[in-house]
Amino acid sequence: MASKTFHELFLDELRDLYSAERQITKALPKLIKAASNTDLGQALTSHLDETRAQVDRLERIFDSLGEPPKGKKCRGMEGLLEEGGEHMKEVPRGSRRDALIIAGAQRVEHYEISAYGTARAWAEQMKHDLAVSLLGQTLDEEAAADEKLTKIALGRVLGDGVNEKAEKGGGGGDGKKSAAKKKATGKRSGERGGKRGKKSRKKKSGKKAR
Ligand SMILES: [Fe+2]
Ligand SMILES: [Fe+2]
Repeated sequence: MASKTFHELFLDELRDLYSAERQITKALPKLIKAASNTDLGQALTSHLDETRAQVDRLERIFDSLGEPPKGKKCRGMEGLLEEGGEHMKEVPRGSRRDALIIAGAQRVEHYEISAYGTARAWAEQMKHDLAVSLLGQTLDEEAAADEKLTKIALGRVLGDGVNEKAEKGGGGGDGKKSAAKKKATGKRSGERGGKRGKKSRKKKSGKKAR
């Protein structure tokens, strides 16, 4: 059985990440278009810029190791992005779709945090100093992006978060449009009131405990 060296395994990790980041670069513009919440749109747009810089960082790492930048199809990321795209189609544009965009984007961030954490640890082990520093920078960005998405979902910055709005009836994004839609969909939200009300109270008390 062919056995790979630790260095080759490290290169495989980098190739997986390179493929993942390039898939994300293609997927993010679609998510930005699909988002209604302004904060969410801005967060995704700034993360698209960061993601492009992360691709550059990986290329610098390959270069420092004397390897051509090459991806190895990351099927994990392919699955996450495909599933997220399918889920989004289940609800119309508005708060519920925003909640799904955040849910999908956070799955992606957690995948990246895990993969970059491993890659950086391995780079440390092998004393690839430049790689340690560049992978660390990206890891910090991924963690910050994840945190920002949590804030947008829970509304710790300003007013209600996306999740709260989605639970209230899943109307449109922001402002007047949203209010008008809520009126129009009021009856339907009312019909679901009973059970969801209980769930909502449970969630809220859970939130306080944290
Ligand atoms: Fe990334
Ligand atoms: Fe990311």
